[in-house]
Amino acid sequence: MSIFTVALLVLLIPHFSDGQFEQWCIADEQTADADLQVALDWACGKGSANCSMIQVNQPCYLPNTVRDHASYAFNSYYQKFKHKGATCYFNGAAITTELDPSHKSCLYEFNP
Ligand SMILES: *[C@@H]1O[C@H](CO)[C@@H](O)[C@H](O)[C@H]1NC(C)=O
Repeated sequence: MSIFTVALLVLLIPHFSDGQFEQWCIADEQTADADLQVALDWACGKGSANCSMIQVNQPCYLPNTVRDHASYAFNSYYQKFKHKGATCYFNGAAITTELDPSHKSCLYEFNP
């Protein structure tokens, strides 16, 4: 191994263990609520996302916004099916993030 290879590995390895490549799928802030609602309905319906946590009185119900609920549903769908080729797209309504969107008792799933 050259000194450069060693240097590269030293630079890269901590990033791998930092989980730099963990990705969640959330609503793109540029997407209008009307479009998010359509994508949310699809995700929780035909998309088979697990939307139980965003129902009334569940940990991810609040904040009760289309954007927050869409983010939860998009991520559920993405984590569930990414290994089968699903993408974080939703007609452009979704975007990936490396920041865990979980808040308080509302945990966003992540599948390694
Ligand atoms: C949906 O998620 C909830 C909470 O994590 C879990 O208890 C439940 O078993 C899940 N349902 C399905 C169908 O996967």
